[in-house]
Amino acid sequence: MTAKEPNAEPYEGARPRAQAAFAPDWPPADELVAAALRQAIADGSWGRYHGPHGPRLAAALAEFFQTEFVSLCCSGTFAVQLALRGLRIEPGDEVLLAGYDFPGNFRSIEALGAMPVLVDLAPRNCNLAPLQLETARGPRTRAVLVSHLHGGLVRMRELCAWAREHRLAVIEDICQAPGAVVEGRPAGTWGDVGVLSFGGSKLLTAGRGGAIFTRHAEIYQRAKIFCEQGNHAFPLSELQAAILAPQLARLPERNRRRTASVALLRRELADIPCLKWFETDAAPCEPVYYKLGFQFDATAAGCSREAFLAAAQAAGIPIDAGFRGFLHRGPRRCRRAGELTEAARAAAGTVVLHHPVLLQPDDVIQQLAQTLRQICSDLPGQVRP
Ligand SMILES: Cc1ncc(COP(=O)(O)O)c(C=O)c1O
Repeated sequence: MTAKEPNAEPYEGARPRAQAAFAPDWPPADELVAAALRQAIADGSWGRYHGPHGPRLAAALAEFFQTEFVSLCCSGTFAVQLALRGLRIEPGDEVLLAGYDFPGNFRSIEALGAMPVLVDLAPRNCNLAPLQLETARGPRTRAVLVSHLHGGLVRMRELCAWAREHRLAVIEDICQAPGAVVEGRPAGTWGDVGVLSFGGSKLLTAGRGGAIFTRHAEIYQRAKIFCEQGNHAFPLSELQAAILAPQLARLPERNRRRTASVALLRRELADIPCLKWFETDAAPCEPVYYKLGFQFDATAAGCSREAFLAAAQAAGIPIDAGFRGFLHRGPRRCRRAGELTEAARAAAGTVVLHHPVLLQPDDVIQQLAQTLRQICSDLPGQVRP
């Protein structure tokens, strides 16, 4: 195999990196990250098992989330599993989760021999509905695994009050929402354990990586013992930790910029009948945008979600279908609480706009809105403006 030309175009897999304004590169060029890399090369920490970067990142995350203990690991998917292990979930236990969620969360529950129990979503916001939890609870229920998805937020005060009443543990997955605030409190700190991802598309990225954080020493200890296995078996490397610290410092400013872009998009696209915005809570909430979700109304559009996505993608818009949800999984693998009508609607109709465009200037956001408006007005069922 020949070495790659030094000036060859950077590749993401086999695909040339997108250059279009609607799909800027992710991660963006970042002088602070470049400086951290240079420093790690100069001091040799890039190639060591142990060094200052992991402990520094853990301390910075503990401060950011106002929590006690942080355990860094190899992915968000594994972090969910680690959180379940930290809570001593055992074979035969039941863990409640939304009927529409990241697929790995279902698998992580299964990985412990536990049974996922599917709960419905709040209408029109694609996130678990705390009011539906009681219908799901059974004698073997031990925990709730809850994610904040697609720019929506779960009503954590309600959820945690219910969980406390029934002595159930809560894992709060903020892989899509680092820095979000729910009713005045950082998302991730409402439950017993918070979960983060540092995957390649995430708002804090090291290509791969994850973390859990908690105020409970015993959860942290159990997670630590599981990870060690004579070595650190599921690590975040020193080099990964070194490049995450400067991104954490920039996160609030970038989240504000993304939020401003979403507000602009919302104003520009408010009246498009086939793209329905998620409802957000009136309580003091600050969502964070990793994938900006909409409900696509195929009846209003007069065409399928897939036809709309194909048209938008052809115009260079980085938009995709949401998750498939878990409704097709059989009764041997999970239990369902009720009809799960909203979860079915979310699986069939959610579309998600990828976040990198949200850091672009207002004129690009306006252009994006105009392009989406045009695509929607060209769909068969749309009333032309
Ligand atoms: C809600 C949610 N949880 C967990 C994960 C898993 O993170 P990772 O890709 O780091 O395994 C993701 C990834 O997209 C996610 O969206």
